[in-house]
Amino acid sequence: MRFSSFIPLGLSALALAAPTPTIKKNGIFARQNGTGSTNSSGSPIGYASENGGTTGGAGGSAVSVSTLAELQAAVKGDEAAVITIASSIKGSGDNVKIGSNKSILGKDSSVVLENFTLTVKGAKNVIIRNLAIQKVVGGDAIAVQKSTNVWLDHLDVSSDRDHDKDYYDGLIDLTHAADFVTVSNSKIHDHWKASLVGHSDSNSAEDTGHLRVTYHNNHWENINSRGPSLRFGTGHFFNNYYNAVSDGINARLGAQVLVENNVWVDSKKPLYSVDNDAGAVASGNDFGGAGNTAPAGTLKSVPYKYDLIEASAVKAAVVGTAGNTLTF
Ligand SMILES: *[C@@H]1O[C@H](CO)[C@@H](O)[C@H](O)[C@H]1NC(C)=O
Ligand SMILES: *[C@@H]1O[C@H](CO)[C@@H](O)[C@H](O)[C@H]1NC(C)=O
Ligand SMILES: *[C@@H]1O[C@H](CO)[C@@H](O)[C@H](O)[C@H]1NC(C)=O
Ligand SMILES: *[C@@H]1O[C@H](CO)[C@@H](O)[C@H](O)[C@H]1NC(C)=O
Repeated sequence: MRFSSFIPLGLSALALAAPTPTIKKNGIFARQNGTGSTNSSGSPIGYASENGGTTGGAGGSAVSVSTLAELQAAVKGDEAAVITIASSIKGSGDNVKIGSNKSILGKDSSVVLENFTLTVKGAKNVIIRNLAIQKVVGGDAIAVQKSTNVWLDHLDVSSDRDHDKDYYDGLIDLTHAADFVTVSNSKIHDHWKASLVGHSDSNSAEDTGHLRVTYHNNHWENINSRGPSLRFGTGHFFNNYYNAVSDGINARLGAQVLVENNVWVDSKKPLYSVDNDAGAVASGNDFGGAGNTAPAGTLKSVPYKYDLIEASAVKAAVVGTAGNTLTF
């Protein structure tokens, strides 16, 4: 066991909150800074900032882990903890089940998790940041179910498109009434079916009124579909950059989406509704020559503050910044 830095609860004066990350851009480390991106205080923007906010393990113990067994042990239970993953870990289809009040942070961009799922199920207040998660055979990279207040930030999630569509499952799947979730500053790439919000046509009773999600400043690349697919829920999408994503935002079965200042390059269906039973309000987007074919929607505003940048500035702001580019 190498729980290297357990800090006794009595020493709370030693600022046990999550460390402030630095961002590496052009080889220079700078304090990360608000606008449209990650808040310098390490707080989410978007739906994860609602419902009391998402603070993860802030105020709890600090733990560093390097193996799957250490990670499994550290993320259990509901006590607040900031868990830093210090080295790459490979699994074989395992499910790492994360309890409430946890921050799971990749130490730096060298940390790669492979072939196991991070599952947030029946939990509240979870932050997962700065991790590469790849090639999870037969499972999702991250699965959020029956949970509220989850912030997924600065992730790099991927597999490959060399296998059939169902060899891997999803990259980020938010299902079973998951609610108040923000997916931000992440690179979501090289995959068939990237992100599923609401898993089944017949799950209306559980999902309706939930699945409130924000996706912002993400870099989506080389994806066939689900950028994301959203059933029943409420989705806010801003300042995302999509490159070579065939089927982008698919709003369906009563979902309402607000889609602002995103950019698509080389996309067949940037914003659409497979069943025309949903609505989209779209403004300031660059659809890259394709179009918005979703029915007009009703979601004209969201209940939180956020800063938008113009579509023309999105590529420069997102490409190279999105992903596991932080250091803790
Ligand atoms: C932080 O944001 C302010 C504007 O809000 C800007 O003037 C400043 O240059 C930014 N600093 C960094 C390090 O990006
Ligand atoms: C940044 O986080 C602080 C503390 O949680 C919050 O008060 C502030 O509103 C946040 N800023 C943005 C732009 O979300
Ligand atoms: C963890 O979160 C739950 C709510 O999900 C809360 O009731 C509980 O007090 C928290 N525990 C700690 C130790 O912070
Ligand atoms: C991934 O995990 C599966 C079990 O789910 C296992 O069969 C497979 O060999 C693993 N693949 C790699 C590349 O480790």
